[in-house]
Amino acid sequence: MREILVTSALPYANGYIHLGHLVEYIQTDIWVRAMKAQGHQVTYVCADDAHGTAIMLKAEANGVTPEEQIASVKASHEADFSKFLINFDNYHSTHSEENKQFSELIYRRLNDAGHISTKDVEQLFDPEKQLFLADRFVKGTCPECGALDQYGDNCEVCGTTYDATDLKDPYSTLSDATPILKTSKHYFFDLPEFEQFLKDWTRSDNRLQTSVANKLQEWFDAGLTSWDISRDAPYFGFQIPDTPSDEPDKYFYVWLDAPVGYMASFQNLCDKRKGTENELDFDRYWMQENEHKTEVYHFIGKDIVYFHALFWPAMLAGSELRTPTGVFAHGFLMVNGEKMSKSRGTFIKAETYADHLHPEYLRYYFASKLSDKVEDINLDLEDFMQKVNSDLVGKVVNIASRSAGFLVKKYDGMLSEVCVESDLLEDITKTGDEIAAAYENREFSRAMRLIMQCADKANEYIDEKKPWALAKVEGAEQEVQDVCSVAINIFRQLMVYLAPVLPELTANAKAFLNIDDLSFASRNQWLLGHKINKFKPLMQRIEEKDVAAMVEASKESLAQTATPVANADNTSAKKNTPSAKEANTGSDNEQADYIGIEDFAKVEMKVAHVLACNHVEGADKLLQFTLDVGEDKPRNVFSGIRKFYEPEQLLNKKVICVTNLAPRKMKFGISEGMVLSTGNPKTGLTVVTLPDDCVIGDVLA
Ligand code: MSP
Ligand code: ZN
Repeated sequence: MREILVTSALPYANGYIHLGHLVEYIQTDIWVRAMKAQGHQVTYVCADDAHGTAIMLKAEANGVTPEEQIASVKASHEADFSKFLINFDNYHSTHSEENKQFSELIYRRLNDAGHISTKDVEQLFDPEKQLFLADRFVKGTCPECGALDQYGDNCEVCGTTYDATDLKDPYSTLSDATPILKTSKHYFFDLPEFEQFLKDWTRSDNRLQTSVANKLQEWFDAGLTSWDISRDAPYFGFQIPDTPSDEPDKYFYVWLDAPVGYMASFQNLCDKRKGTENELDFDRYWMQENEHKTEVYHFIGKDIVYFHALFWPAMLAGSELRTPTGVFAHGFLMVNGEKMSKSRGTFIKAETYADHLHPEYLRYYFASKLSDKVEDINLDLEDFMQKVNSDLVGKVVNIASRSAGFLVKKYDGMLSEVCVESDLLEDITKTGDEIAAAYENREFSRAMRLIMQCADKANEYIDEKKPWALAKVEGAEQEVQDVCSVAINIFRQLMVYLAPVLPELTANAKAFLNIDDLSFASRNQWLLGHKINKFKPLMQRIEEKDVAAMVEASKESLAQTATPVANADNTSAKKNTPSAKEANTGSDNEQADYIGIEDFAKVEMKVAHVLACNHVEGADKLLQFTLDVGEDKPRNVFSGIRKFYEPEQLLNKKVICVTNLAPRKMKFGISEGMVLSTGNPKTGLTVVTLPDDCVIGDVLA
């Protein structure tokens, strides 16, 4: 029996769980259940990732303490995970005593071994909020092309990358204040010292997928640099221990203590289980000398490979702890072939999905798409419906519903004493070995294909034998029982194979089949002379209207949550957030009186080309446009349509800009015009777009 510890990445405690996240938690959960079913001792832990500036600001905006903020988010995460049948053995938080202790331990060991150094860093500082500004909290004019309102790391108009300190007219997106330059001491982890170790580590023992190892090679080629692991107060996190008492407080950067959260959650579980029959020994999993006794696997998304395949193993090795046996990365979720989109209703919360559809549909669909590769996976809603209905309802459940009736009605639920098709059943029992291997290798789509092939064989067999016709033939009673018994036995095998993906359906099937085990090994004992129970429908077809309602509700639920209080980045944003009207929504403007043509002629409207379109940090209603209206310089315009569009939908479009509106100073910069939309901000706004061949700068009349 192998002893295996498995983790999924720790979701941030500042947002809800959506279908993208679920790719990972469903993938991990299926793997864990499949490995448990194969008789291994598997422990699956996770936690909320609770630290960092974003969470601190979110709590502030919501008028609660960070502790209150993370507690309520954790409860909602746990509720979502349980709906999707994610069976964590433990769910903890990085804001915990265990995590503090391990983070300090690792830091102290790294420090004692000489892997930590300090350096003065000059950074932009918000004098009003009294905090250092990360790049995404600074905006200003691009030093290269002069585009307004560009972030502190690169210009989205001309593509230049620069330091935040190079921006012209910089301002803090948190307070609007002009940042000042301030120096502070930072703590660095010496990653380059681990280069050789990491090169060996990433290339040995099949720890990483090939494409991930190749990506790491690029990073090695580019050269590793020391990693800044400290942040200045105010920060929600753990204070760095042993810093000079006459110097300002320093905190661990959130990514330092986040992966340590894996250990913390496991320790927390060890404590809970102490003295019970499933006691766990922390040291057996994390001490270097036990590295070969147990296995540790991290499931992650492709965006966080750097942290898990470089920093984390280096931190562990540097502090003489064991490193993971494997890190498994998956791709990102697309919906209907595109990035998830709030305006299209395809940015779907876990909760919204569960309000409309059974979570097991999604588990099956993801399983049918997932492989061991780092490829993005596509949730095509049409295909989703079709596949679930045809595979699960049409093929699998159908086997039981076609054969159980006869057995229960005519034979009191008794299956035949002998199997009349042992070749067929043996074949399907044997396929189980391939299915088990496919699960273990994370080739879930292959496992699902093999399972459906077995289901096809069963249905072909039933079609050929036609028990419904046999039932009318006198003297064929035994044959009817035999045929249906074969079908039920195959159905039982399929339930074993599908149990990791469909825990609820298979648990119900277990009751129907009157068996108490769905482990992989159990399939070798065929059900002969065994009594089954009455069949109840195990799964309903997906209805198109439910999918449509979920998409509709996703549009709504985001509109509802996009309130200034919930999403603003700080409290001062509240008083400064522009109203819908100020934000150029062009609505609420019901004029009873007529205007003369001369009034209308005062308004200058021009064909504008969208050079850039971006979210505005801290403004949940606004999009920021950089518009070419045929003048020397592009114009900067804010529009209150964020709820209805992803910026990339408007990029490169031709829109109508009111060009002689007086410039307006807003919290986020100066708005130099208005983009025309139809509709109203409550039910939805549609930006008026023009055909591509309209000439930029032409006046509309
Ligand atoms: N808090 C960090 C992880 C720390 S692990 C020590 C984090 N959190 S997250 O909430 O942004 O993401 C959690 C996991 O979900 C990550 O592995 C991430 O890759 C995955 N996904 C988030 N959005 C996703 C999609 N749209 N599609 C697929 N997976 C995605 O990163
Ligand atoms: Zn630029």
